[in-house]
This record gives sequence, structure tokens and C-alpha cells, in this order.
Amino acid sequence: MMLVTREIHFNAAHRLHNPAKSDDWNRQMYGLCNSPNWHGHNYRLEVTVRGEIDPETGYVIDLGVLKKVLEEEIARHCDHKNLNLDVPFLSGVIPSTENLAVVFWRRLEGKIPFGKLFAVKLFETERNWVEYRGPDS
Ligand code: NI
Repeated sequence: MMLVTREIHFNAAHRLHNPAKSDDWNRQMYGLCNSPNWHGHNYRLEVTVRGEIDPETGYVIDLGVLKKVLEEEIARHCDHKNLNLDVPFLSGVIPSTENLAVVFWRRLEGKIPFGKLFAVKLFETERNWVEYRGPDS
């Protein structure tokens, strides 16, 4: 069993705000991340696939293919965007790192050979990140 990872970066703005809750609740819960005029992060996304080495190619997955999938499915939609306003597949989602990782997993899952997606690791800062390994793990 081999794990293979590709990393991409994107820069985006967001605001953490739950519209079902009061402004006070939101300020207390999210602090600076609730600032009404948005703030930005330099996101780092690491996507790991798992599999056996194909003896014909020596690959688990062609990293060029994985790179293209990440660009098409994630970076193209999120880079230099406002995650609350500009990204249709994030509509109605509170763009916490956790929620982003789950949404990204769902987008990628169908684009990567079945059963191979292993982990989606999203860094919001150098010190804060989440890792999602799918609904069954
Ligand atoms: Ni933030």
C-alpha cells in the first residue's frame, strides 16, 4: 500500500458567520473571523491517494492527472475568490476549514479512481489545519 500526495495553494477571503444566530453569538464564537468586511488566508491543500503500484507504470496515480483534477475542481473556483460569495459549490456553507475539507472531498471523490482518495488535508495557516478521511473513516 502506497500513499501519494499532491499539494496546491490558493488564496481566498472568507467570513465565518452563522446567519441562524445573533450577531453577538457570531462575534463571540468566531472573533476576528467574524469581521464583517472579510479577511484572507493563504490556503494549502494536500490531497492524498492510496493504492498499489501499477507494475506497468510504476505509479499509484499519475501526479499530472491529480494536479489537473485539483486545479479544475478546487483552485480554479477558489483562488482569489471570496468563499462566501463567489463559489457556487460553497453556497450556504460556513467556510470553516472543516467544512471546506468535507466539500472538497465530495468534489474530488468522483474525479479520482474509486476507493483511491485517502485524505484531504487543508491548512488555513501554518499552525492550523484539518484532515478529513471521508465519511467512512
Ligand atoms: Ni479565517
